[in-house]
Amino acid sequence: MRVLLTGGAGYIGSHTAVELINAGHTPVIADNYSNSCPEVLNRIKEITGVEVEAHEIDMCDAEKVDKLFATGAFDAVIHFAGLKAVGESVSIPVQYYRNNIDSTLVLLDAMTKYGVANLIFSSSATVYGNPERLPLTEDCATGGCTNPYGWTKYMIEQIIRDAAKANPNLSAVLLRYFNPVGAHASGRIGEDPSGIPNNLMPFISQVAVGRRTHLSIFGNDYNTPDGTGVRDYIHVVDLARGHVASLPYCASHKGSVEINLGTGTGYSVKEMAEAFARVNDIPVPYQYAPRRPGDIDACYADPVKAKELLGWEAQLGLEEMCRDTWNWQKNNPNGYKGAN
Ligand code: NAD
Ligand code: UFG
Repeated sequence: MRVLLTGGAGYIGSHTAVELINAGHTPVIADNYSNSCPEVLNRIKEITGVEVEAHEIDMCDAEKVDKLFATGAFDAVIHFAGLKAVGESVSIPVQYYRNNIDSTLVLLDAMTKYGVANLIFSSSATVYGNPERLPLTEDCATGGCTNPYGWTKYMIEQIIRDAAKANPNLSAVLLRYFNPVGAHASGRIGEDPSGIPNNLMPFISQVAVGRRTHLSIFGNDYNTPDGTGVRDYIHVVDLARGHVASLPYCASHKGSVEINLGTGTGYSVKEMAEAFARVNDIPVPYQYAPRRPGDIDACYADPVKAKELLGWEAQLGLEEMCRDTWNWQKNNPNGYKGAN
């Protein structure tokens, strides 16, 4: 299939491009590089031998998106494009709503106009807010998001559900990611956050490489076995393969469906820091710090629906997550900047 990846130069998009090529598909990337850089295209070529077609486009620019679709002949779209920093979304909420929602509306218009029927959307476990029960199944209550970023995901899900109801040709898979971590085993592509990382794994690996002195563990009085927050970390290559597995399902169904992409296993912050140190034989000093506002005790998926509908389940464990994160970090201590 010829698959448009909006935001395809980003962390999850670049890994998905590689897995699509491995599975015989043709990814086409559209990205404005607001949180990525074109160097990723060279890296994808190194890994796969394939030069990916890429377009520098803001997905909110309706005219340019129309032109892209006019000649694109896409069989499906995976919509990764979006701003994703939780804290930043609190400071500049209007930009988050505008970018994430406008890009989706522009995309849906173009898909309708050019008869592209299959859409896979990057949603997030954040739509569950404070989980009503664990593990989270797709029919758990959504809403109660703690930040504007989360609300954009919640709202976009609803927009896509409504669009699929109104357009009987549209098929949409709303993938609710849990916590993506890790990198491609080659160490050539990975997560490259700008500034001080908000997320746990990039922070841990920057401590390990010496860019930060220690990890601050946000809270040790949560209602979890060791008091630190529990999350469902999923290797980004597993996550990427979940998108590949979603394509045939999407193409053979109509309407919209929500599917969790997680492992079903939760690990605590303390367990993650200690596993990283053990697997990579490198110290990860940590100190306890106050809770981070908006954080919840625990969040992990029931992954059964993904297995039933997509025939997909996560294969890679904590060891691979820690090993591959470190392999990427130590080979690219400054990310894609100063590329080697
Ligand atoms: P990322 O920032 O690495 O990738 C997003 C890409 O979208 C970037 O390359 C960015 O330049 C691009 N982009 C942003 N706005 C755009 C626009 N208007 N037009 C064109 N390109 C645009 O993030 P990621 O981690 O790869 O996340 C991909 C998607 O998955 C996002 O929608 C994110 O919200 C969602 N998600 C991520 C996580 C996570 O923890 N990484 C968890 C759940 C959901
Ligand atoms: N944590 C620390 N110290 C740090 C960073 C994080 O202790 O320096 C802790 C957090 O308190 C939390 C856990 O590590 O308990 C994971 O935090 P992350 O920021 O890595 O991830 P979150 O679960 O908070 O959020 C992530 C994504 C969101 C997404 C959400 C649900 O960042 O985009 O998962 O899918 F919405």
